[in-house]
This record gives sequence, C-alpha cells and structure tokens, in this order.
Amino acid sequence: NETKNYSPQVQPPGTNRRIPQSIIIGVRKGGTRALLEMLDIHPEIVVATTEVHFFDWDENYAKGLEWYKNLMPFSYENQITVEKTPGYFTSSLSPERIHEMNSSIKLLLILRDPTERVISDYTQVYYNRLENQKPVQVIEEIVIRNGALNTKYKAIQRSLYDVHMENWLKYFSLDQIHIVDGDTLIRDPLPELQKVEKFLNLRPRIMSSNFYFNQTKGFYCIRSEGRERCLHESKGRPHPMVNSTVLEQLQAYFKDHNQNFYRMVNRSFDWH
Ligand code: A3P
Repeated sequence: NETKNYSPQVQPPGTNRRIPQSIIIGVRKGGTRALLEMLDIHPEIVVATTEVHFFDWDENYAKGLEWYKNLMPFSYENQITVEKTPGYFTSSLSPERIHEMNSSIKLLLILRDPTERVISDYTQVYYNRLENQKPVQVIEEIVIRNGALNTKYKAIQRSLYDVHMENWLKYFSLDQIHIVDGDTLIRDPLPELQKVEKFLNLRPRIMSSNFYFNQTKGFYCIRSEGRERCLHESKGRPHPMVNSTVLEQLQAYFKDHNQNFYRMVNRSFDWH
C-alpha cells in the first residue's frame, strides 16, 4: 500500500489533516496501542501515533480544535483518521467534549479483565518509578490498606468500567461505541479487528498474514508493507505474582461492577 509510505511532515498532494472520525478512548492498559497499530494495517485508516490528550487535559482543550487537527496525520478523503488516548475513557469531561465536536463519531473502547488491568497498570507505574529512581512498593502494599481493599487506588478506580461507561452513555448511543475484547485481541487478533472493520464500514483488508506469533515476545507481532514489527518492549511485560487472597479481593470487588457493566452494554465478557 503506497498511500501510507510518506513522511508525515510532508503533505502529499490531495491530502489534508482531518479531525478523527473514530477515537480509541481507552481503557489504559487495555491493549490500546496494539489496537491502534493493528488498525493501521488497513489502507483506509491513518493513525495519530502519539497520544493527543486533547479532551482530557484542560490545557490542551483550551488550545482549540485547529490545534487538535494539526496533530493529525495527512489523509486522503477516503481514509479514516483514528487517534487514541486511553485517558479519555476515565475522564469525566471527555464524553461531552467529544460529542460537541462530532455527535456521530465512532468510538472504540478496548477492555480487558479489570483485575488483570489493575496488575498491568501497577506494573507500568512500577517500571516508570524504577526508571526514575523512585521508591517502589509490592502490589499488595498498595492494593491493601489497613487490612481492606484500597478502593481509592487509581488503578482500581480505572477498572470500574460501569462507572465510566455511564458518563459515555449520557452522550452516545451503544451503537456508536464498539467494545473490543482486549483479552481476545491478545490471543487471536484478527477476529477482533474484523469486527472493527465492520463497525467502521471498511472493506475487510486486514488478513491473517498480517500477524505472526513471536515466541520470544510471547505476543503477536505485525507484518505489513514488507516489514515485521512487534510492539515496544513496555507492552507485554511480565506481571508480578499476586497473593491469591488479594486477587480474590479484587475480583470480588469488581464482580457487581462487571455485572452492571454487562447489563449496560447488553453483552457479557468472561472476566473473573
Ligand atoms: P501488559 O504489558 O500488562 O501485558 P496499552 O497499550 O493500552 O497500554 O495496553 C498494553 C497491553 O496491551 C499489554 O499489557 C498487553 O497485554 C496488551 N497487548 C495486546 N496485544 C499485544 C501485542 N500484540 N503485543 C504486546 N502487547 C499486547
């Protein structure tokens, strides 16, 4: 596909920067980068490679829609521009702001088992702190405070999918929000991507030959335009072993929230 082989700084004739017609709104650690990179295989999709944080960060939102548009890649008229900022899903102002920009936008939300997501979130922060030579704690010390689950812990809050979804459903109908099963995307990416192609009304162009399993990484990697690449090493890091009582406490805490979420979206997932 030649249409994508250009430097994003140079404007190819016939292209423009466009406001996204679809946004990956989250969830943080759900597999948002994998989803974006895998969708980028499609010739009719162009993606903003960096997280924009337009709708969730007031200082960026204040810069206005032109600023936002200027961060988007060049695209042809038949292409769909996609940006991903995982922080949107849990930000209370994002739904209204996105709705105001484009009330018929198509939203993509990738979710995974909420307990798994907490551990993944903890792992990311753990490595960030190590890199910045800040003290680290084992996960049990953060998740449990005074013998009880520390429900104020941000990573736990972010996994309350029903709480956040409620904000989105005030502005968008269910058929505008496509949920990608992040646990499935890890194990078998193609079927999840084919559902997204349908949702975006795109021709099926992503194929099984676009993926190969990399034993060393332990994840699927991408083969596209004659190139093979895996996601950055920060994606798919081993998780710590978590004390089974703590795991059970997390799972018990999420149980009702999960059930509530399934009702909200008329769909269930095999989360613990
Ligand atoms: P872990 O690093 O905890 O395993 P995000 O991009 O939203 O931060 O999500 C990161 C998660 O994407 C990773 O969490 C990993 O499990 C998941 N993922 C899904 N498909 C992947 C792939 N092909 N390669 C690497 N990570 C993938």
